[in-house]
Amino acid sequence: MAKQSASSIVVLKVIETQRAAFRATPNAKRETPTFAEPESAVKLLAVTPRTEAEQFEHIKTRVFRRSDDAVREVADLIANLVHGRQMENRTAVLGLATGSTPVKLYRQLIRRHREDGLSFRNVITFNLDEYYGLSPEHPESYHNFMRVQLFDHIDIPPENVHVPDGLVDRGKVFEYCQKYEELITRAGGIDIQILGIGRTGHIGFNEPGSGIDSRTRMVALDRLTRRDAARDFRGESNVPEYAITMGVGTILEAREIILLAWGESKAAVLRAAIEGPETDSVPASFLQRHPQCQCFLDETAAGDLMRFRTPWKVGPVQWTPELTRKAVAWLAGSLKKPVLRLRDEDYTENGLATLLVEIGAAYGLNIRIFNELQHTITGWPGGKPNADDSHRPVPAHPAHKRILVFSPEPLDAELGMAGTLNRLVNQGHEVTLVYVTSGNLGVPDREARMAVSLLNEIQAANNLGALAKELDNKTAYDEDSAALRRFKGLIRKAEARASSQILGLADVQFLDLPFYERGRYRQFRPDDGDVAAVVRLCESIQPHQIYLTGAGADPSSVAGIVYRLVTEALDSPARHSNAGTSQIWLYSSGERPWLPHEINMAVPLSPAELAVKLDSLYHHRSQRSQTPFIESGESWQHAERTNRSTAQQYDQLGLAEYEAIEAFRLLAGAKR
Ligand code: F6R
Repeated sequence: MAKQSASSIVVLKVIETQRAAFRATPNAKRETPTFAEPESAVKLLAVTPRTEAEQFEHIKTRVFRRSDDAVREVADLIANLVHGRQMENRTAVLGLATGSTPVKLYRQLIRRHREDGLSFRNVITFNLDEYYGLSPEHPESYHNFMRVQLFDHIDIPPENVHVPDGLVDRGKVFEYCQKYEELITRAGGIDIQILGIGRTGHIGFNEPGSGIDSRTRMVALDRLTRRDAARDFRGESNVPEYAITMGVGTILEAREIILLAWGESKAAVLRAAIEGPETDSVPASFLQRHPQCQCFLDETAAGDLMRFRTPWKVGPVQWTPELTRKAVAWLAGSLKKPVLRLRDEDYTENGLATLLVEIGAAYGLNIRIFNELQHTITGWPGGKPNADDSHRPVPAHPAHKRILVFSPEPLDAELGMAGTLNRLVNQGHEVTLVYVTSGNLGVPDREARMAVSLLNEIQAANNLGALAKELDNKTAYDEDSAALRRFKGLIRKAEARASSQILGLADVQFLDLPFYERGRYRQFRPDDGDVAAVVRLCESIQPHQIYLTGAGADPSSVAGIVYRLVTEALDSPARHSNAGTSQIWLYSSGERPWLPHEINMAVPLSPAELAVKLDSLYHHRSQRSQTPFIESGESWQHAERTNRSTAQQYDQLGLAEYEAIEAFRLLAGAKR
């Protein structure tokens, strides 16, 4: 143990020396910008020294079990600042972000205004950015976003609010941006800057290539950023190409900076920003320079940080069975060796000597982990009737199970588990696939046009004339009427039925939860009525097994909301009726393929089964080019790549070689 601490001190010193050397590099671009003088009265972030576990993190990072917990603390910091300044009869200046990430924080601030009387009369705000070319009234403008999400619900004086103007004349942009900066300076500088992070590593709209000293300016948006916004704009081609954003240098002048991030889609870029070198290819990494910057992350967003990914490299660990499996699979994966061929020296030379000391020599350890991985593989996801199930992921009894599968929107369940659905049906289980929402928000107008014209031809309905007119007259961003949304919902339902029929499913249900029908992307407000509908469904089906997704999704996405609703419903007082549910399985929402050590059940697909899966996916034709999180190609190509890559990873560890594998995790607390 003493040895470990000594080595960590050495590591720390090496890192510090490297960072000092990096900073000493003579390069005008790397000059540290001047920070606004910290005002003693405003020092809100107690940036405590790093612990041993955080030694590789160059930005102070706090990890919370749930985003709600993080948001409460940030709201406290803001409330303290605002209240403190009120006592001194002074203003408080906030730098604000848009996007999914801060939505919960804004709801929390609204709640405090309404319930605790927190006043924003003395608050001045500056937003980071705005799409260029959008008027403040445009439904996707950041002006509109801020009004809907915050400003309309608090008592901030309208003249205190600043959001960059997306309509400023091209020839005047430079001058306008300088004025924006002057306004910030005149307000006394930003006290607390709230940031999200894009998957490109952007803060504000400072895309890769933005320098540490960049100022407020017009920028071109990265392809990935436009793709991530495609859903909001109903198609990537409608997303503006340019934006006006505060620069990295402008952001770094704030006295305190709080970066928020939720969900596993942000994990990789956060690792680069927090643990990697400062580089303009990840602009968020420049936050490492700021003495009063903290990241507030939920567990899934923090998942790629060294202290979670390979905790044994960071300090002493307790070798639990899960961690042991993770370490062995990691070692085999990084050395590209099958588990059974790992030698003692592979462990000792790669920082895993303590594992051998505690658990014993490589030979026995390898066999144990090999068997554990082997036991995750099953062709019987509903349990194998009359078989010894002591080493199987699913109990044999009852042989025929009632199974409830939740798909947040049509296509989600098919992407994650079409092959498994097909098997469950073929193996005689009573499977109910529930599409929790209709998914009508994801139907582009071109698909609705096609369906209207088809129906018009056969004169099947009367009100189609009105729909055709609406589609002719609306722009891509205009809000759809209720009738058009219903119609788009019908398109998705027809696709979902066709797709599930291919999988042999007789019984699919559409739950049409109210939160979805009332809302739009990034603006959903689920309530108790939604939970009650899920409780009623569970009561009527009384499932032995439940399949669900969205544990690692952005909490404000449809998948994230449905995950929360279902888990809340299962925890609700009416839960006694679900007491028979022995297992709740999570399928992947496709943002990140799971690694073998994270998988509790691996269902192999034969080449023929994979073909059936792809056939079922193709029937969701309105979803071409619609799915976010996928950098290249279509969602079904991504699903195929993921299933094939899981099979290859099992093969590489020395297990059987399959065509493809669908992966599942047992939701904690639902062990058999
Ligand atoms: C928004 C902004 C962006 C977002 C980032 C993350 O004002 O400046 O940097 O914070 O793109 O977006 P979400 O939160 O939607 O994942």
